[in-house]
Amino acid sequence: MMDTLILGTSDNDISEAAELIKQGEVVAIPTETVYGLAANAFDENAVRKIFAAKNRPCDNPLIVHISSFDMVYDIAKSVPELAYKCAELFWAGPLTMIMPKKDSIPLVTSGGLDTVGIRFPSNPIAQKIIEKCGLPLAAPSANLSGSPSPTNAARVYEDMSGRISAIVDGGESDVGVESTVITFENDGIRILRPGGISREDLLRVCDNVIVDEGVSSKLPSGTVARSPGMKYKHYSPKADVILIDSDIDGFRKYVVENKTDNTYCLLFDEGEAVEGVPYLTYGDDSIEQAHNLFERLRQFDEMGAERVYARCPEQSGVGLAVFNRILRSAGFNLIKL
Ligand code: TXA
Ligand code: MG
Repeated sequence: MMDTLILGTSDNDISEAAELIKQGEVVAIPTETVYGLAANAFDENAVRKIFAAKNRPCDNPLIVHISSFDMVYDIAKSVPELAYKCAELFWAGPLTMIMPKKDSIPLVTSGGLDTVGIRFPSNPIAQKIIEKCGLPLAAPSANLSGSPSPTNAARVYEDMSGRISAIVDGGESDVGVESTVITFENDGIRILRPGGISREDLLRVCDNVIVDEGVSSKLPSGTVARSPGMKYKHYSPKADVILIDSDIDGFRKYVVENKTDNTYCLLFDEGEAVEGVPYLTYGDDSIEQAHNLFERLRQFDEMGAERVYARCPEQSGVGLAVFNRILRSAGFNLIKL
């Protein structure tokens, strides 16, 4: 156990965060998606500390964060043609592109793969920290493995106090769900994890954009996941989350007939309340839902919820990312009425 320093966003504090990272330590940093646990992507020992702090399986690769496009050439062996177009439209921003990795990126960082996910975050604090380090930073979401990703510094502290050197408090994350992860194949794009950049956005780059089967369904056992993260349990609060795909009347009826003690609802808005059943709301549109989802899952834990019936989000635009996350937090327990 170590003391975890809380830093702000003054030039001094940012310099201190960068200094710790350059010395091989792990520092939680804000990004526009969720908070990340950052370390020098080139330094095996530093990267091992990330895996230890999270209890993360060592075959689940980390995303490498950069603060200028040119840093791609220090990390990727070759850059797919479509990646330039994606970068032009969506970097800096919540898009991670998988590319063949250079030997400079240790296998510890890439979870043993010969590819690496690269992201140029738009959050100005994240950019400043990467710039000050002068290094690409490996950074997974700053939660304990399996828990909902943190979207503010207090939630990072909850999971990481005593496990990392410092946390830079940059306020609330803007998007609230992690970046879109894509890979390039057959002159097209495959979405491995939906996020802030939607399929509809990516269709501006090329007309061949496939959503991987693993995004909206459980991969059959025995299949090799294209993205190792797909096979692990994710975003789970202590409560059993049950996702209900129905209109509001069907939803209410189902909750009334099936509720037990400590049952809660996750609703779009308070107008949907079910009499006698406590609830939280996560918003009427996909942007709001993405922004709120992980925080609500953590709030249910604090409230001692044992079961949560959740309204099913739209699956278009950023909604696909919301659906993907809530489906996993429900352990794929989706009831269609
Ligand atoms: O928005 C984000 O992406 C956040 C912030 C901190 O940048 N980071 C994040 O990292 O969500 P993490 O480690 O929690 O999720 C990374 C996902 C995992 O599902 C991992 O399996 C996948 O990206 N991934 C990373 N590198 C990969 C690769 N080379 N091939 C396939 N999947 C990869
Ligand atoms: Mg994560």
